[in-house]
Amino acid sequence: MTKVIRNGTIVTADRTYKADVLVKDGKIVAIGNDIHGDHEYDATGCYVMPGGIDPHTHLEMPFMGTYSADDFESGTRAALSGGTTMVVDFCLPSPGQSLLEAIQMWDNKSGRACCDYSFHMAITWWGEQVFNEMPEVVKRGIPTFKHFMAYKGALMVDDDEMFSSFQRCAELGALPLVHAENGDVVAQLSQKLLAEGNNGPEGHAYSRPPEVEGEATNRAIMIADMAGVPLYVVHTSCEQSHEAIRRARQKGMRVFGEPLIQHLVLDETEYFNKDWDHSARRVMSPPFRNKQHQDSLWAGLSAGSLQVVATDHCAFTSEQKRFGVGDFTKIPNGTGGLEDRLPVLWTFGVNTGRLTPNEFVAVTSTNIAKILNMYPKKGAILEGADADIIVWDPEKTKTISAKAQQSVIDYNVFEGIEVKGLPRYVFTRGEVAVNDGKVEARPGHGEFVAREPHMAVNKALSTWKEVVAPRKIERTGIPATGV
Ligand code: URP
Ligand code: ZN
Ligand code: ZN
Ligand code: ZN
Repeated sequence: MTKVIRNGTIVTADRTYKADVLVKDGKIVAIGNDIHGDHEYDATGCYVMPGGIDPHTHLEMPFMGTYSADDFESGTRAALSGGTTMVVDFCLPSPGQSLLEAIQMWDNKSGRACCDYSFHMAITWWGEQVFNEMPEVVKRGIPTFKHFMAYKGALMVDDDEMFSSFQRCAELGALPLVHAENGDVVAQLSQKLLAEGNNGPEGHAYSRPPEVEGEATNRAIMIADMAGVPLYVVHTSCEQSHEAIRRARQKGMRVFGEPLIQHLVLDETEYFNKDWDHSARRVMSPPFRNKQHQDSLWAGLSAGSLQVVATDHCAFTSEQKRFGVGDFTKIPNGTGGLEDRLPVLWTFGVNTGRLTPNEFVAVTSTNIAKILNMYPKKGAILEGADADIIVWDPEKTKTISAKAQQSVIDYNVFEGIEVKGLPRYVFTRGEVAVNDGKVEARPGHGEFVAREPHMAVNKALSTWKEVVAPRKIERTGIPATGV
C-alpha cells in the first residue's frame, strides 16, 4: 500500500521546490512530479517538511518529589499534534543507581509512545560503576550523556566528575550535554532570598541570574576543550551563555546551543504576575529572561551560532506546582511545550521574517538529526529516509488553549497566543497521525531509535588531540647532572 503527498512545496534545510512524495513501508521511496498511489493526500498551498525532532523532553520523570505529568503516550500525542515526529528523552538514574537499570526503567515507560523516540543518559553521579557501564550504554544506541551543573544535593555533578565523564565520552566517541547553571551559587542565592522573606515564584528567577548560566556554560566549554570532546548546551536562555558558545565556535570548537521555544517567546514579567499559580506554572530552569536576551537567542538562530529549538517538555499540574507555596525552591521546575513548539516558532519566527522556512526546518529537525547522528534516517525529505513528514498549512490559525490541548496538565504557558501555521497532515513512519487537522496518534506505534557513536566531530577532535598531544623532546646536548 502506497501513500502520496501531492501538489505541495517541499521545504528542507537547504532547498525549496515543488514535488510529490511517495511513501511505502514507512519510508520515503520516491520524490518527483505527478506521482500517484493508493492513498493520496492533498498538499496544495502547503509546505512538505521533515517532521520536527524535539531533543529535550522529560516524560514521566521522577523529579523534585513527584513525577512529570505527561507520560510517553500523552507527551508523544501532543508532539504529533503539533508536527513533532520524534522526541529524545533523558534516562535519569537516581544517584548510585546503575545506568543499565535506568535504561530498563525508561524502556518500560516508553511502550505506549505514539512516535519514534531515542534516549540520552544522564550522569547523575560518578564512580567506577558509571565509568564501566558507559560503553554498554553507547552500545545500546545512547551515545549522548547529560550533566547537570545545577540541582545541588540532587542531580548536580562537580567539575572533577564532569571532567572525568567528558574524558570517558571522548574515548567512547560520545557527545556530552550540559545543563549549565552554577548550582553552588544558585543554592546560596536561594537561601539568602528565602531568609529575606522572598519566597514567591519570582524568587526562583532572582536566584538564577544570567551570570549563573554564563559562568557555567563557559566552564563546561573549557572543560570540554581540555577533554577533547564536542559539547551540547541544553536550554541556552541568555546572552551570557550564547556569548560563551559564540566565542568557542569562533575559536573553532564544536559547541552547540539549544534555545527553548519558551525562552524565545515568554519573558521574566511572567514571574511578577499577582497570581501565584500563574507565576509558579512558569517556573523552570533557567528562568525566562528579558527582551534583550530573547533578541540574542533569535539572532543566534539566524546567524547559526545557536542550532536547535527544543522544549524541555517537563509538565507539572497546578496542584504539583503548589508543593512550593511558601518556598519557591520546592516548586517543581519545568514547563510544557511539545504541542506548541512548531506553530509558535513559525508564528514568531517565519511570519515575522526572523527565520526563513529553510532555517525553520534546520532548527526544528535537520540540525539535531545531524548532531545526534541519525541523519538522514531522520530530519530529511530524501528517498530512503523515514516517512516522518509534516504537511504544513501556513494559513491555518488557532488560539492556543489548555482546553483543547493533548497534554494532561490543566494550563498552557502559551495560553491565548494566536498562531498562524499548523499541520494539515502529520506522518510518523508513514502512518497518519494528524489527518486534516484531526489527531489520530496510535499508542505503541513509536519505536526506539538507536544511534551510533563516533560522529565525524569526535573523530576530528581525537585526531587533533593526538596531533597536538604533549611530546617529550629528544635532546642531544644534555648537561651532566651535579657538575
Ligand atoms: O526546569 C526544568 N528545565 N526542568 C526539567 C529538568 C531540566 O533541568 O532540564
Ligand atoms: Zn492519483
Ligand atoms: Zn536542565
Ligand atoms: Zn531538561
